Order: sequence, then C-alpha cells, then structure tokens
Amino acid sequence: MKTDLVRISGQKEEASKEKEMCGIESLNRQGSLDYNREDGRATLTLTLTLYNVRKIELSKAAQVFEMFEAQIHHFETRRAKKPKNSAVDLDIFVQCEVHSADVSTFISSLKRVAEDVRTSREDKVPWFPRKIQDLDKCHDLITKYDPSLDHRHPVSIISSLHYRGDPLPRIEYTAQETATWREVYRKLSSLYPTHACTQYLDAFQQLEKYCGYQENNIPQLQEVSRFLKERTGFQLRPAAGLLSARDFLASLAFRVFQSTQYIRHFSSPMHSPEPDCCHELLGHVPMLADKEFAQFSQDIGLASLGSSEAEIEKLATLYWFTVEFGLCKQNGSIKAYGAGLLSSYGELMYALSNKPEYKPFDPEATAVHPYQDQAFQPLYFIAESLEDAKAKLQNYAMKIKKPFSLHYNPFTSSIEVMNTPQKVKKTLCQMKEELKNLCLALENLS
Ligand SMILES: [Fe+2]
Repeated sequence: MKTDLVRISGQKEEASKEKEMCGIESLNRQGSLDYNREDGRATLTLTLTLYNVRKIELSKAAQVFEMFEAQIHHFETRRAKKPKNSAVDLDIFVQCEVHSADVSTFISSLKRVAEDVRTSREDKVPWFPRKIQDLDKCHDLITKYDPSLDHRHPVSIISSLHYRGDPLPRIEYTAQETATWREVYRKLSSLYPTHACTQYLDAFQQLEKYCGYQENNIPQLQEVSRFLKERTGFQLRPAAGLLSARDFLASLAFRVFQSTQYIRHFSSPMHSPEPDCCHELLGHVPMLADKEFAQFSQDIGLASLGSSEAEIEKLATLYWFTVEFGLCKQNGSIKAYGAGLLSSYGELMYALSNKPEYKPFDPEATAVHPYQDQAFQPLYFIAESLEDAKAKLQNYAMKIKKPFSLHYNPFTSSIEVMNTPQKVKKTLCQMKEELKNLCLALENLS
C-alpha cells in the first residue's frame, strides 16, 4: 500500500532524530520494532545495561555487538557503582538496533561477558493526536490533487483547494461545475430508493430539506458540517488530497472527516480518479449523519491510534470494505451503505447485480482481504446490519495489542490514555454520574 511507504519514510526521519540523541536520558527510551533496515528484516531497538564488566572483557563485548551486526546508537561506559570483580569494573549503557529474530541469542551472548544484563524493551507506541487541535500535525499527503497539472481543468478549480486546519471556505462554483454536479446528482438519486440503505435515505431527505442538496446547487461544506455536528458530532475538515491511512483514520477518532472541496472534471462526470466533493457529499455525508454509523466510523479511528503499521494497514482495509464499499442486509434484501458505491452510478448498479462475489462481514477476514482500487470490487462484504457491523468491529478493535486503553472525552474532544489506575477510576466516576442520571430518568418514566 502506498500509504505505508509515506509513513515509513516519516518514521525514518524520527528515528534519525533519535539517533542524534545522546546522554543517559535517551537510554531510558524504550525499544521499538522497525522494518527500515536495508535487508528488510525486522529490527528491534534495545536499551541495555551491562553491569560489572571487567575492563579486559570490554573487547569481548564489542565482538558480540559486531557479530550480531548491532547498529549502536549510544554507547557509554562508567565506573561500576557496585564493583564486584575489581575496583575498575565498568557498567555499560548501550542503545542499539539488532535483528529481532536474534534478540535472545544476542542477550545470551552478552551474558557471557557481563553476568547482569538488563534490557528495557517496552514497545514504543507511534505518536498519535491527543487533542482535536493535534490534527493539524496529521497531514501526510499521499497525493495532492493539483488541477494546474491537468490541462483539462479550468483554472477556477485551483481556488477551491484549501489546506489543513483552514476554516471551511464558501466556494462559488462555476456554471460548468454545477452542471457536472447536476448530472451526477440526477443519475445517482434515481438509484438511491432501490439501492441505498434506509439510514442513507433518511439522511438524504434531511440534507435536501436543510442543507441545499439539490441538483442545481453544490452544497457548501460549511453548512453540511454544521448539519453533521448537530446530528452526530461529526465535522468536516478541508483536505487537499489523499492523506496517509494513519492520518486519515486518526481524524475519525475525533469525529472529524477530512473532505475535499473541488469537483471532478466535466468531461467525465461519472468518474473521478480522486475523491471529490461529489464523492464526499453524496457518498460519505449522508451516512455520517446516522448515529450508529458515526460511532462505527469513530471506532475505526480510535482503534487506529497508537497502532502498529501492520494494524493500520488492516484497519484501512476494513475501512475500505465497509465505509467505502460496504453492503448490508435490510428487510430481506441487500442495500449499499459504502460511500464509494453511493457516489458511483456504475459500481452501485454492479454491486447489487449478483455479478460480484459476496461474503459475510467478518473483521478478521475482511481486514486481510486484498482490495481493488482501479476497477469495481470483485467481492463485497455484507453486514447483517450496521449495529452488527459496529459490534463486530468493537470486538476486533479490543484484540489489537496496545500497552494502554484509550477513552474519548466528548466534552474536551480529546483522547485520554488510561495508563494509571487513577485515570481509570476518574473516568469510572464520570460514568457512574451519567448512570445515576439515566436511572433517575427511568424512575421518572415509570
Ligand atoms: Fe471516500
């Protein structure tokens, strides 16, 4: 996946910054898995302390590092605090990178030189945003859509490009852009009554009523974002192109949806190589107005925070087969809820034509299934219902290994890391208060 390439190069920079660090503080940082070595084998950064090494054994220690091709980031010797063999015993502090498959033999070999070898190898967790404002730091663009590079595009589209963190601007779309929208809107809305799920149809009706969803008007993101905020707490944020999977999913954790604002080229109204506002407004927005689906989307985002690259890849694939191309059972038939389908006339017809293969939605299997991003999907996953998909996803997310649990605080739009008993207790107290209120409400009703 190209998304991973982007993240890996970003991590390389971070790793090189770390390599520049020296001093005892840096030794307290923990080990982390890395796949960036030239031979492609996984490596582990280890922090080691070798106690009471005889001065004459120092060269033997060096030989072990050499034998295991350890890349040394930091090496420091000090006179031993508690000399055991002789007064000139040394304590050695090392931070190095070794192949993860060699770790146990590497440490055993060091133990022949120093009786007491201690390692610190807690998994390092990739950085993730804790506050909604931190999303300004999530901006790894995979491709930036640049109409100026495409001679077919009218120059006016350039003015509809905006970047991260900017307020949602109002766009004066041209008559030609509105005509493109009209064509897409007319064709797709003729299919919705038979092909879209009821959650979509309900929200679409509301959007027509309150948000200027009409064939002669391209709705403004500002108004749509306000509408979503009132319904489910989701808000839109302008994006200038495809973001890395990690950054895109992270924004969902805060109920923020990164949205493009430009429209596809008029010469191909039924196809856009990149997401455009037809895809966002007709595909994503109506579903984000549904409470169940909004929670499902946020759950994928929350699961992504602090996850490994391998987990991000799986979550991005889950996102692809659900939020983008998901189907669900409804009243005895199959309906679409995925934005990639609901914004594509051709694929929406095809997906429900019995031509493709169907499988029941099962996060474990779906997350590792290869997907198609250049043509219609040969296979779609069908959820029993959106509630069922949400419950299955939550179970899947709970199995992702992380050294902490996270809690989203909707009052402050921030992520709390539950890494101390006090924090868990505090959150539990807040929940108890809410439960009390709910019990009172029930009493009042009875
Ligand atoms: Fe999309």
